[in-house]
Amino acid sequence: MLNEAPLIQIKVPQITVLDAGGQYCHLIARKVRDLGVYAEVRPSETPAADLAGRRGLIISGGPSSVYDRGSATVDPAIFSASHAVLGICYGQQLMAHLLGGVVQKGEKGEYGLATLELNGGPKTALFSGLPERQQVWMSHFDVVAGVPPGFAAVGKTSTCAIAAMASPARGLYAVQFHPEVVHTTQGNRILANFLFDVCGCEKDWDPRHRVPLIEDEIRRTVGDRNVFFFVSGGVDSTVAFTLCLRTLGRERVRGIYVDTGLMREGETEFVGKMFESLGAGTVTVEHVEQQFLTPLGTVRDPEQKRQIIGEEFVRVQERIIESRHLLDGHWILGQGTIYPDTIESGGTEKAAVIKTHHNRVAGIQQLIAAKRIVEPLHSFYKDEVREIGRELGISEDVLERHPFPGPALAIRCLCAERDEPVSRTPEGFVLPVRSVGVQGDERTYRPVLAVDRLPTAGNALQNEATELINRLRGINRVVALVSAHVPLEQMSVFSSTLSPERLTRLRRADSIVRRRSHESGFDKKVWQFPVVLIPVGSAARPDSVVLRPIDSVDGMTAQSVSMEEPLLRSIAVELLEIEGVCGVFYDLTHKPPATIEWE
Ligand code: XMP
Repeated sequence: MLNEAPLIQIKVPQITVLDAGGQYCHLIARKVRDLGVYAEVRPSETPAADLAGRRGLIISGGPSSVYDRGSATVDPAIFSASHAVLGICYGQQLMAHLLGGVVQKGEKGEYGLATLELNGGPKTALFSGLPERQQVWMSHFDVVAGVPPGFAAVGKTSTCAIAAMASPARGLYAVQFHPEVVHTTQGNRILANFLFDVCGCEKDWDPRHRVPLIEDEIRRTVGDRNVFFFVSGGVDSTVAFTLCLRTLGRERVRGIYVDTGLMREGETEFVGKMFESLGAGTVTVEHVEQQFLTPLGTVRDPEQKRQIIGEEFVRVQERIIESRHLLDGHWILGQGTIYPDTIESGGTEKAAVIKTHHNRVAGIQQLIAAKRIVEPLHSFYKDEVREIGRELGISEDVLERHPFPGPALAIRCLCAERDEPVSRTPEGFVLPVRSVGVQGDERTYRPVLAVDRLPTAGNALQNEATELINRLRGINRVVALVSAHVPLEQMSVFSSTLSPERLTRLRRADSIVRRRSHESGFDKKVWQFPVVLIPVGSAARPDSVVLRPIDSVDGMTAQSVSMEEPLLRSIAVELLEIEGVCGVFYDLTHKPPATIEWE
């Protein structure tokens, strides 16, 4: 782990974050570093003697109750050493529990935003300069019901009487909320108060030190072996690859890009050029289009499509690993895993799916089991990865790319078993395609409701869409018709497969939308912008295009984003010129209840 690595510039970190198992533990370390103080992460049980010389410790949150058997704990001696301690969430409960306070088992927990009220009187150093009331973000089950001897309760919320406690004389502070997340509006200020006022830290960290540290870690992990990557052209694998290339030199790093035939227009050329510019000849393209398109050409079921793609990926990767002797001890696997990918609950679905692909490859499993793997970005968040990419001179075209799913256009090209007309309902027309949604914890495949109105500024129509899905059973998406060659009531679903003709149609549509969205700057307003082909139209023009621009933070939830009508209309005009395209629809559905992708 980078954070556990011997440091180049910093011999003894001023701050250690003790990891009690919380998903935001690394985020705390990162926020501290952003404030200019290097922080390392260590297991919570690290003996106090090993933490000598620190100016402060932060105990992270964690998933357990202090009463659970085997739950994370800390060496109690840390509370009487010369450094200050800040407990966050579980860290507060643990501090209270170990120092003689009372922790009460929560009954229903508290999650989300709350208002912290400081308890009047002189402010503790932790809250110096803060307003009396502020928004904080809570996520906890148990609560501290009684402070330990020598502590005072210094903040509360409407449901949590001891949301903050302090014993300034001993340098001990704790908060029930999470100062490290953005939803705690004064979180940075609180952390800065702890670092500089309570602990007396000095600035010793500049984010630009990241790259030499990562390079050092790559050298140590790789030793005298070589590294190979399966690169995708996405931000993470490109930055990870570039870091290895720069550290080890082009003779020792190889990238393999698999062209499945499901890529967007110009993608393979784009990726080829990009890697040429980074280091000519270091990435080879594996053309396996027919291996994917042939078995996919006959299936229509979305899950079956995904399964075939997964299986073919496995075959291709096994073959490459074997034919290039990548298991022979001279090679280790490089991956673009980033920090959120490594935390199960906070990880993106994308990561989970990528992982299932990779984990099923026996050769790759072997490499992982033998720890023959290097993941230079494992402790960084996406925005840090972009900054690192900038420092390495990777172009903005690459760094600002939207996420793109591994199964590529296959899951954006819906197929249908049979011909079937659309049906009229009081709310609009039901399109009998099967699009995926998330309702409860399940993926559901349901038809889609099409309405004849366009979204305007604000989210009124999107909110109405949510209401319609909740009210009408049996649909999981609502789309608005932007424009079409025939009226909605004359449209039908047509029996269709993932044919080369339809993939070409989708590629054209996707390419037009990407160009227009880039030229107009709309692509900067969205997190991702899938363009989907659905087999809905007329006999002469059997397909329609759905625009699915969304905003999101991590892909786990998403909001449908409105586009200005003149731009939308003019994109629709261009799309309707594509051979075989009958209509253009706009997806109004948030996630949940719909997923971002349509399959
Ligand atoms: P959904 O459709 O589940 O998508 O709301 C959430 C995010 O994950 C991406 N996605 C995938 N990425 N392989 C991937 O690499 C997949 O099979 C896959 N399915 C969805 C999707 O593009 C979005 O960013």
